[in-house]
Amino acid sequence: GCTPDILLRLTPGVDPHTHKYLATGVIDSKFGFTQLKWEEAVAQAMSAPELNLLGLHFHLGSLIAEVEPYQEAIGAVLGFTTEMKRKYNFQLRELNVGGGFAIQYALDSPSPPISSYAEAIASKIISKCRELKLALPRLIVEPGRAIVGQAGVALYRVGVVKDIPGVRCYVSVDGGMADNIRPALYGSKYEAVVANKMSEEGAEKVTIAGKFCESGDILVKDINLPPVSAGDIIAIPDCGAYCLPMASNYNSSLKPAIV
Ligand SMILES: Cc1ncc(COP(=O)(O)O)c(C=O)c1O
Repeated sequence: GCTPDILLRLTPGVDPHTHKYLATGVIDSKFGFTQLKWEEAVAQAMSAPELNLLGLHFHLGSLIAEVEPYQEAIGAVLGFTTEMKRKYNFQLRELNVGGGFAIQYALDSPSPPISSYAEAIASKIISKCRELKLALPRLIVEPGRAIVGQAGVALYRVGVVKDIPGVRCYVSVDGGMADNIRPALYGSKYEAVVANKMSEEGAEKVTIAGKFCESGDILVKDINLPPVSAGDIIAIPDCGAYCLPMASNYNSSLKPAIV
């Protein structure tokens, strides 16, 4: 048989300042080896003839809008590598820093350009390896959202418009939490436009409500749109990641088509 190459997933205990459901590299995480077990994991993997320990991996979480958490985790993992090199002659041939690069969903929450992540990650690895006299490992990244998130636009048709004077105006659409669970699950923010009224001004504050039987099924809360009426098409950008892959048949709904 062949000896599989493996990486060990370490939990570096770094807070990526994202929604807590999206943080995976914090101390209190179900993922990866907790720091107290790192050495034992490396020692065991190195002594297992059926495994080839190629390197180390971490994934800090998703929608991370800062580069510093990556640098902090790289520092921790490379520091640990030096110790493992000294004790067990461990060679870090591959370092996988996971994914998590943010995209901009809301106009008021910009995300760093991809080049900032690349620059911060690569420069930290180079300077730390130089400082610790480590050979440069092969670098692997695992972005998901940053690749496909902006490639999808969700289209909904408006049904009922319910105006509660002095309270709120609900614009109900023919989709919601079964095709995009993110607002209900994480309070995620989205922008929206009325696709058939793009040249009209956003004059009315409305809330775009899904059709599912939960009050929490709100796609976009308090957004200014042109006057909306039944039959209009609402377009929500940035729906290319974590929307349809997390879709369900809740309330016997069918999953929307992708065109
Ligand atoms: C181990 C791992 N790597 C990468 C990703 C991709 O994350 P993102 O889409 O935030 O880049 C995920 C997402 O769940 C993951 O679990």
